[in-house]
Amino acid sequence: MNPYDLLKNDHDKVSDLFKRIESASGKAKLAGFRKLKAELDVHTMIEETIFYPALKNAAESRDLTLEAYEEHRVIKDLLAELAAAEPGDQWDAKFTVLKENVEHHVDEEEGDLFKKAKDVLSTEQAEALGDQMAAEKERQSAPVADELKKPSFIKRVVNSLLGGSTTKRDEKKKKAGKATAKKKTAKPAARKATRKTGAKKSNAKQAAKKSVKRKRTVTGTAAKKAARKSPPSGRARAKAA
Ligand SMILES: [Fe+2]
Ligand SMILES: [Fe+2]
Repeated sequence: MNPYDLLKNDHDKVSDLFKRIESASGKAKLAGFRKLKAELDVHTMIEETIFYPALKNAAESRDLTLEAYEEHRVIKDLLAELAAAEPGDQWDAKFTVLKENVEHHVDEEEGDLFKKAKDVLSTEQAEALGDQMAAEKERQSAPVADELKKPSFIKRVVNSLLGGSTTKRDEKKKKAGKATAKKKTAKPAARKATRKTGAKKSNAKQAAKKSVKRKRTVTGTAAKKAARKSPPSGRARAKAA
């Protein structure tokens, strides 16, 4: 996709929104402002993360790009202040300053910056940037929870896919998981040990019983042998007679 067309379309949309907000009042004015802020949030984000980095490192476009980052910062501050302020004359004055800043920035972007970008980037490079910006815009406008759009969430997903963890909370969870796993494996091992000890004990019992039996048998045999060897006493002989 042509990145210049994509960005210009956004600029035109924003320009229309400014006109509508200026002629609106009450709730319609605030609703229009919320829409404008959402548009500018996504637009500045795709420029700062995809378009500007490609121009920042080239000598011909470096100064203009750094200036553009600074102009975005002023615009974002004004948007944040307007989002937090109550409607009234001061709000309207601030809104006019925002409009003037955006118009000035858009003029510079569509004029000098696009011209420098066309010198610095090949058609293929520019198209690739356009595709990336279009994809990011689509992703940002998809009806998913805000949490899923946060850079921290994306970082966690990427890291988990790569097999690592990102946050301190993740690390804690990982450690806690390992400790639980150890406990779980420790129990069966203990049971095994108990079973082994029990088996040893019962083996010992059986061995003791056998030994007693053997002793009894030995004792009985020895007594019989002794009886045969020693002759009976005189009294015994008389009794027998
Ligand atoms: Fe722009
Ligand atoms: Fe911009």
